[in-house]
Amino acid sequence: MTRLSKRLAALPGYPMAELPAIKRRLIEQGVDVIDVGAGDADLAPPRVAVEALARAARDPAMSRYPFQLGLPAFREAAAAYMQRRFGVKVEPFAELHPLLGSKEGIAHLAMALLDAADVGIVPEPGYAVYEGGTRLAGGEPYRYALTPRTAFLLELEEIPAEVIRRARLVYLNYPNNPTAAVATREYLERTVAFCQRHDLVIAYDNPYCEITFDDYVAPSIFQIPGAWDVAVEFHSLSKTFCMTGWRLGWAVGRAELIAALARVKNYVDTGAFLAVQAAGAAVLPQAEPLARGYVAQFRERRDAMVPVLRAQGFEPETPRATMYVWVPLPEGLASATFQRRALEEAGVVTLPGSAFGAGGEGFFRVALTVAAPRLVEAAERLGKVLAAV
Ligand SMILES: Cc1ncc(COP(=O)(O)O)c(C=O)c1O
Repeated sequence: MTRLSKRLAALPGYPMAELPAIKRRLIEQGVDVIDVGAGDADLAPPRVAVEALARAARDPAMSRYPFQLGLPAFREAAAAYMQRRFGVKVEPFAELHPLLGSKEGIAHLAMALLDAADVGIVPEPGYAVYEGGTRLAGGEPYRYALTPRTAFLLELEEIPAEVIRRARLVYLNYPNNPTAAVATREYLERTVAFCQRHDLVIAYDNPYCEITFDDYVAPSIFQIPGAWDVAVEFHSLSKTFCMTGWRLGWAVGRAELIAALARVKNYVDTGAFLAVQAAGAAVLPQAEPLARGYVAQFRERRDAMVPVLRAQGFEPETPRATMYVWVPLPEGLASATFQRRALEEAGVVTLPGSAFGAGGEGFFRVALTVAAPRLVEAAERLGKVLAAV
């Protein structure tokens, strides 16, 4: 057998890797599957994106290598959005960088910052790429359990001093996947101050900043004094505009950190398809009104499903942001067991909390990715599984 690298061997299985095959098998068996697993909504992308992509695809110049520069208009549109939406002024060519989806940049930043035995602080439950990026870069993840005790906030003060000394990077993601938690300004201020004191870089993963409900508005980390010194922020078109497959996002930060990320990327990719960047440049000037349209649909879905989950005996909080509902399970019921039974007995695809790391045990995640009546049906089917376990 081929000997694989220790870095690869140390990675846990990717949580969603097997789901498409399982789902296909169930559908072939005639099961009416409701898929609320991946954070990949069924809504169409904005028409302006589709039209800009189609137009750009006809221009042969758009088929050339994008290189790291990419399409200047996309950089400018992303910088204009940062200024308009958050009041954060960035220079589009030195302090902002296009990404092939934010996942790619999140993973690659670790390669720019970590050496062997350097620690990346990883929230758990959390997006698998934080641990994956840390390990593939040769670093060592330190997992911090996000629990209701801290309102799912990663409290750096609680981490042993010896770990903090070795840490170079901390991944923060609010609004949070999978817990749907949001961060207060006070939390962000003390976290930025801690990172300044301990020379830690924050990878601030912000793909859900527009998917917020009621009166909640999510900030950029750069609205916090001092954050510019310590943070790189990641944005994505995937979730806000239902463009997951287009693979487009961007990173923002001070020039030294952005240049370091770009140097890594020079060796592993040659930029997002220019026609996709042209679509991004067409969408971003209308980001806020377009987002409002999608958010209204996510809100309707949330409001349809959460009460039914409660009526079925679950006790989820009502999310103030993201497209997720993080649902606690009764004491002693393993999330993987519940997820498997939900799939096999009820045809409902969910994600077990344990798929987001051991710290996610005791919960499962529902994504608001299908229409309200299907979510209601999913909640009713899940209730039957709960009653039977
Ligand atoms: C917390 C978080 N960050 C980043 C991403 C990556 O999004 P993309 O690579 O599509 O921009 C996701 C996608 O699920 C996510 O949940």
